[in-house]
Amino acid sequence: MDKSQFETPLLEVLLGYAGSSPSRFHVPGHGGGRGVPPDLAAALGGAVFSMDVTELPGLDDLNSPTGVIARAQELASRAFGADRSFFLANGATLGLQALVLAVGKPGDKLILPRNSHRSIIGGLILAGIDPVFIAPTVVPGFNFAAGVPTAAIERALGDHPGACALLCIHPTYYGTVGDTVGVSRLSRAAGVPLLADEAHGCHLYFHPQYPLGALEAGADAAVQSMHKTGGSLTQSSILHIKGPFLDGDRVFAAVKLIQTSSPSYILMASLDAARRQLAVRGTDLWQEVLEISAEIREWLSGIRGLEVFGSRFLDGDGVFDYDRSRVVVRVSGTGIRGYQAAQWLTGHGIFVEMADRDNIVLALGPGIGREDCRKLAQVLGDLAVREGKGRALLPAPEIPSARAVMKLREAWFAPSRPVRLGDSAGRVCAEWVAAYPPGIPVLIPGEEITPAMVNYLGGAREAGAGFQGPDHPALDYIRVLE
Ligand SMILES: Cc1ncc(COP(=O)(O)O)c(C=O)c1O
Repeated sequence: MDKSQFETPLLEVLLGYAGSSPSRFHVPGHGGGRGVPPDLAAALGGAVFSMDVTELPGLDDLNSPTGVIARAQELASRAFGADRSFFLANGATLGLQALVLAVGKPGDKLILPRNSHRSIIGGLILAGIDPVFIAPTVVPGFNFAAGVPTAAIERALGDHPGACALLCIHPTYYGTVGDTVGVSRLSRAAGVPLLADEAHGCHLYFHPQYPLGALEAGADAAVQSMHKTGGSLTQSSILHIKGPFLDGDRVFAAVKLIQTSSPSYILMASLDAARRQLAVRGTDLWQEVLEISAEIREWLSGIRGLEVFGSRFLDGDGVFDYDRSRVVVRVSGTGIRGYQAAQWLTGHGIFVEMADRDNIVLALGPGIGREDCRKLAQVLGDLAVREGKGRALLPAPEIPSARAVMKLREAWFAPSRPVRLGDSAGRVCAEWVAAYPPGIPVLIPGEEITPAMVNYLGGAREAGAGFQGPDHPALDYIRVLE
């Protein structure tokens, strides 16, 4: 292994400053902790505040790095096989939006899966770039949105030869990946950069039994929420670029455009330490996760009515491979909905990553213990026995197609107001609305709300679907253009 991966340059300098009993005449004004509310200090401990600093001599500057931050980013590039890496203090959201701002200009087109994260829709609004959506595969029975069929990508690249970029989700929230190697060949042949939303996948690079990381699979850029699976603190993330397709200076300019000018050194140092842990111990840590995943899958599969997503549901295309650390459990076969199962578990002190109508989703990571897994299997088993009525599995709801009647960015800036869902047919939607299942945005700003869409949304609401995006979460009201 590359010995330099044992270094944590940023963490070390930060610890050095905090431990030097400095006289602090700089922001933040809490003076290393003396000025913070005592209950907060007691809860978090003094060390956190002594390290909560800003750009000081020796600590470098995220927006113009030449010292320890530059070195920490370089080590991250080496660990992930990138050419250049940028630390982000505001989540993968910032990295995805920066990429969109970097690759195109107003009026350009960007090809992306319809189940893309809302941060990317936000990036398109900021940049004035128009989306070309491709429908993802919906996994039969589980009814969740996975990757996009490769033929659909090929078609979209052919139909939009001047597209400024192609985006893939690698892996999705449910842990699946499409054929990113095949897709990257297509994008390369078309001369279109491939951007990967790798928010859930920074650990993939460190163990051969997980899907390839997006950069390994041929993506030109990957944005990772290191905080989700990499062991860093919440919000801390990294944007990597690789190869000649993207202009690194332009990407950095876009990052600086929207990054805070006061990035948290605690978050950045956590990225430095998490990168070292992944590079040095990642294989062992994620091996253990694989073993625990195999056990919990076996336990849960033994419970009548439960079905655990696994290899036999792969289709060699949009559902090409999956990350074993994400466990999707279909509970609807026991007669209960995913939401109810999650609630039941919460009542027993067990919190899952997410639930939709049919499934619960467990995110396993190096912090997971076997005891917790046993408890989950037992509590879920009790629920299955208690309910156990069995219910015919429902197909994924048929989503009416949406038609943009106004550009996304124009719709964002146009005046809008909420109306009752039942009164919204014929209006133009002013917000982003995704329904679970299958987790695909059914409307984005600028799309027409048809009578079929009103019916669909009303039906989904009655069937207990969860909505993401609308101002009114239960969707009694929907925001429309004036
Ligand atoms: C698929 C996907 N992409 C991007 C993001 C945004 O990541 P972050 O929360 O780090 O900004 C998320 C967050 O949940 C996500 O699920």
